[in-house]
Amino acid sequence: MKVGDDVAVPPFDPVDPASLVWYHTIELPGGVVTPGEYDHRRIVDRVGLPARLDGRRCLDVGTHDGFWAFEMERRGASAVVALDVADPEDLDWPEPRPPLSGDVRAFLAARKRAFGVAAAALGSRVEPRYESVYDLDPDTIGRFDFAFIGTLLHHLRDPIGALQAVRRVVDDQLVLVAVFSPWKTVLLPLTPVTELADFGNLPFWEIPSRGCDVSSKWADGK
Ligand SMILES: C[S@@+](CC[C@H](N)C(=O)[O-])C[C@H]1O[C@@H](n2cnc3c(N)ncnc32)[C@H](O)[C@@H]1O
Repeated sequence: MKVGDDVAVPPFDPVDPASLVWYHTIELPGGVVTPGEYDHRRIVDRVGLPARLDGRRCLDVGTHDGFWAFEMERRGASAVVALDVADPEDLDWPEPRPPLSGDVRAFLAARKRAFGVAAAALGSRVEPRYESVYDLDPDTIGRFDFAFIGTLLHHLRDPIGALQAVRRVVDDQLVLVAVFSPWKTVLLPLTPVTELADFGNLPFWEIPSRGCDVSSKWADGK
């Protein structure tokens, strides 16, 4: 099932960004700035994204409204694939899964529409792709020169499995933005520590210390 197939979604005007629920603040033509929950414009030049991506095929993992994917395109990427799950059921919910009410499903479905509206407004060639990071397969999605993962790992039951899956399809560079606990990092600087986070029935899993950053293993593909 794809998002929106069988849920009642409030009517919206597909060309009016104000009618949508926005996760990302995105600057669109005509001076329109989407009212996003997260405004990454402040940090866009501070996360290690290469200044230019000319000629590189790029992957944005967990794209949501597509802010980072559009930014990669703006920086000259030859192609960008924006990956996200199609269905809220595909998120890593804790078990037993909380029942998703019609309202929650409608809210999540409406959020997914923002990407399409932003892409159309920007005249973007970013390709949306709806599958889980765990299922990345070079035979079906192809290979990439560059991948970006923004604040996704703490939503995953198996963050290492997700990194391994990304590693399968990316030949060169990964930029990973992840949530780390400053307290665990300061209190136990030499010991990697993590713990299961208790956010109730939400898809949140672990908030580790910086010592748990396994992305240094990236280069040798472990
Ligand atoms: C916290 S948001 C981060 C959005 C964006 N990457 C950013 O940095 O602003 C996490 C995103 O990852 C997506 N996501 C969650 N589980 C996923 C999975 N297994 N595969 C791909 N995307 C997933 C969510 O749907 C959501 O869009």
